[in-house]
Amino acid sequence: MHPKPLVLAAFQQKFGQPPQFLVRAPGRVNLLGEHVDYNDGLVLPAAIDRATWVAFSAAEGESTLVALDFDQQAVFRLEDLPAKTSPDGAPLPEWARYPAGVAWALAQAGQQICPMRAVFASDVPRGAGLSSSASVEMAFALAWQTLGGWNLPPLERALAGQKAENQYVGVNCGIMDQFASACGVENSLLLLDTRSLAWRSLPLPEGVAIVVADTGVRRKLTSGEYNRRRAACEQAVELLRADLPGIRSLRDVSPQEFNRLAAKLPPEAEKRARHAVEEIARSEVALAALAQGDLVAFGGLMNACHVSLRDLYEVSIDELNVMAEVAQSLPGCYGARLTGAGFGGCTVNLVAQNQAGAFAESLAAGYRLQMGHSPEIYICKASQGAALCS
Ligand code: GLA
Repeated sequence: MHPKPLVLAAFQQKFGQPPQFLVRAPGRVNLLGEHVDYNDGLVLPAAIDRATWVAFSAAEGESTLVALDFDQQAVFRLEDLPAKTSPDGAPLPEWARYPAGVAWALAQAGQQICPMRAVFASDVPRGAGLSSSASVEMAFALAWQTLGGWNLPPLERALAGQKAENQYVGVNCGIMDQFASACGVENSLLLLDTRSLAWRSLPLPEGVAIVVADTGVRRKLTSGEYNRRRAACEQAVELLRADLPGIRSLRDVSPQEFNRLAAKLPPEAEKRARHAVEEIARSEVALAALAQGDLVAFGGLMNACHVSLRDLYEVSIDELNVMAEVAQSLPGCYGARLTGAGFGGCTVNLVAQNQAGAFAESLAAGYRLQMGHSPEIYICKASQGAALCS
């Protein structure tokens, strides 16, 4: 069942009256610029037509949140937020740290947080590289805003979500996911410069479909791996500064400079930083290709990105490699690669629209033949960012 009627019915049942408000915030898929949003690079995500839905009303004293996807409830007061506990002192469950973390970050930014009763559910699969956590954060950021009666621009809410994830949940993520969930534009790609935070939407090129192929493999406890990769990039910047004193991040290092200095880096930092430097350079070429409508060139760069994530950044797994390779061999496919952090989840495929149906079927069959189970494949619609619904 779709999450919207689910949360509405469950709210009524739990609290004995309909909710005052309903918000929706989408997940995202990323076409290009992977693992560069914490290296000041360019990213090209789109918000997708899968989302977290929150039905909510103002409450007195404490907040009560019901997570239908976990069949659990959490209670906390504003004063419990820093300690991440319920009034009885028990630690908040893992899932509650996203809505609570966003309240904490917004309160720290000086916004008024008013208690709420809420029921939420999502059809963004968890651990699938489609930013289910950012969609929860952005849905609740808007919910807290609605009850608090203030009005932060979407990008500011995204930054509060990133802060919550970095400092409250403990994942050192960049800004891409929260940004895409907060700022999504229908039928459009979103181009964000993660250094300046300047962004604009680009219409999806004519005649193409974005196809998401889910391996069904779920990422588990990978925040350690993610944080390690970010640390390796930061270490590389520190070491490269000996020769390039002006650099602030890998965005400031050209592939030529990197090649000249790479031997000075320890092997792990060298591989990670090479991915970031080359991926940042690739995004610039890819944007030029997109501007000229050259989808073949753009798709080729997506394929190159997959290889780099597999061999240099080492965040791919067999299932993702098979999914990307089968896709790349099919008619109508411009490019295919893993999307998001990696270690499981989905590939993103850019496919000629008139061949997308046949592509999805052949991809499912080809993947099943090699891996023995059926993947979930869907043609995805770029959607609007977080919004209050009527
Ligand atoms: C996760 C993070 C993002 C980004 C991607 C990789 O989704 O939340 O900030 O780093 O991985 O591109």
